[in-house]
Amino acid sequence: MPFVITSACIDVKDGACLDGGCPADCIYTGGRKMYINPDECTECGACALRCPVGAAMLDEMVPEEEQEFIRSEELFFSETLPGRDEPIGDDPGGAAKVGKIDADSEFVANFKK
Ligand code: F3S
Repeated sequence: MPFVITSACIDVKDGACLDGGCPADCIYTGGRKMYINPDECTECGACALRCPVGAAMLDEMVPEEEQEFIRSEELFFSETLPGRDEPIGDDPGGAAKVGKIDADSEFVANFKK
């Protein structure tokens, strides 16, 4: 039951969830939003407490109209993103190691707010 970052983060990327928020270093910086690696998330909830726009939430709390973000979060790590040679993968070693990723899942790249 990992946490998921939903539409409110898109084109906002406040960053409070990163700044001392996530102890697991599992929040990765995409082009339009942040993404939580579901395999690295420890479900502590620090991201949800810090996000000023309510974008981060437990997957079971994601409302019906935002359900696609759960799948999108998984695909961000399992599919080869534009401009990259291979998927980031389930166990990339933490966001600090990977650095900023200037790409999004296809769903997020095409998402209209
Ligand atoms: Fe996005 Fe909220 Fe973090 S807007 S960058 S999930 S603090």
